[in-house]
Amino acid sequence: MSPEEILQQIQAEVQVCTRCELHHSRKHGVSGAGPANAEIMFIGEGPGFHENETGIPFVGGSGKFLDELLMEIGLNRDEIFVGNVIKCRPPGNRDPQTAELAACDPYLERQIAAINPRVIVTLGRFSMAKFLPNAKISEVHGQAMNVRGRLVVPMYHPAAALHQRSLQPILKADFAKLPELIAQAASAPEYMDDTPEDKEEPKQLSMF
Ligand code: URA
Repeated sequence: MSPEEILQQIQAEVQVCTRCELHHSRKHGVSGAGPANAEIMFIGEGPGFHENETGIPFVGGSGKFLDELLMEIGLNRDEIFVGNVIKCRPPGNRDPQTAELAACDPYLERQIAAINPRVIVTLGRFSMAKFLPNAKISEVHGQAMNVRGRLVVPMYHPAAALHQRSLQPILKADFAKLPELIAQAASAPEYMDDTPEDKEEPKQLSMF
């Protein structure tokens, strides 16, 4: 199957998934959106009200802010893939639970493998925890890390910055680093090799 077909298949599977309790309140599963050959993949938390209604990721208030952040660095949605660690909306936008995250993770793993992005940007702590389970976002945000052979850049969630305005300039400054990181990742292909999970601890890249 081509990467496009894999993403379409995941999209279809997510609509009928019953791996966790979140399917009971699902209107639309939100697998993600963007080109299968995207160089950069943004991973948020999970669908909110508007995403559950439409099936499209980041279409509510935090999505508008995400679009603004992207525009400031000359990117738009057509060039990036945007997904989530959880594909169905947690009721009342509560935090996703451990069992729900575990049940949904294989979809995200398949998406990452299919897209094979140069850079993964995690938005918020749940997405960060997938790659950097012991990190504190206040300490590592905006720093490029090599995680199992992939370049991962943890960032605050746009919704957090909407609630706490003091985070907005921090998030903007972290986004401003992305064009350079993408360019550098393109010329450092060894960081894109898949390293077996148990062989490598996350580490900050000195080159960045
Ligand atoms: N917040 C997220 O984390 N993901 C979405 O898709 C929308 C809001």
